[in-house]
Amino acid sequence: MVVLTGAGISAESGLPTFRDADGLWEGHDPMQVATPEAYATDPALVHRFYDERRSALARVGPNAAHSALARLEEALGDDLLVVTQNIDDLHERAGSRRVLHMHGRLRSAWCTACDARHDWIGPLGHHPACPDCGTRELRPDVVWFGEVPHGMDRIEEALWDCDLFVSIGTSGLVYPAAAFVQYAVARGTPTLELNLDASDGTSDFDESRRGPATRLVPAWVDEVLADYRR
Ligand code: NAD
Ligand code: APR
Repeated sequence: MVVLTGAGISAESGLPTFRDADGLWEGHDPMQVATPEAYATDPALVHRFYDERRSALARVGPNAAHSALARLEEALGDDLLVVTQNIDDLHERAGSRRVLHMHGRLRSAWCTACDARHDWIGPLGHHPACPDCGTRELRPDVVWFGEVPHGMDRIEEALWDCDLFVSIGTSGLVYPAAAFVQYAVARGTPTLELNLDASDGTSDFDESRRGPATRLVPAWVDEVLADYRR
């Protein structure tokens, strides 16, 4: 089973989504700030954007949807992979272990000098030294627009074999994640969407349930576990 999550699963934890909020941050469209060009032009602005989001993580916690997926993993083990577009660590803090962050992780710093990655909870805007090579070239370990998402080989392999594809809290507007449902449909894999609003891919899903993730996800996990225990 492959479960894809987007910003919507973290919305009820207090982390604004990309397109549901007023879409602006310090007068900038997040999708204008999250690009290699923005980082080259104004690195201080990009660091401020991610330093603020990284510090906000300390003020929020996982919600019932994240916890339900962790409960599902306790039962399914290696038969479940959570692929998230989110860069927060709420899946892990809820107890999920098999999580693939295809857009990177906010609490990770990437050294562009020596390519090392380090767990990181503090700011990067003051150019701290890389613990490995000592240079001051650490950037947010986040996949920006125009960059290649992480783990695509592993995701395609998981989609190839999975018995169910579930999408939770994503608008289905950004590729390649938005194409995962079409890939599952082409393989004849059953598909389910759990989302507050209709998404760009809703019509591709066998079933689409409408509502907040904290209500839909625990109810769906209870259904799966009831079948699983029969
Ligand atoms: P993109 O929208 O340019 O699309 C990536 C790939 O999908 C490209 O090969 C493109 O040709 C293809 N594609 C785009 N639209 C398509 C469509 N309608 N049909 C079929 N194929 C389509 O990717 P991006 O917007 O440049 O972003 C690259 C990655 O960075 C994405 O995964 C994005 O989500 C991620 N990102 C992360 C953050 C963050 O803060 N975490 C912010 C911005 C982007
Ligand atoms: N419960 C369930 N779904 C929700 C909730 C909620 N409480 N709140 C919002 N949603 C849904 C919205 O209906 C919307 O479809 O979550 C989706 C959020 O969509 P976006 O803001 O576009 O977030 P996402 O789909 O994760 O964006 C994809 O775009 O900017 C890039 O890389 C960035 O990962 C991001 C990617």
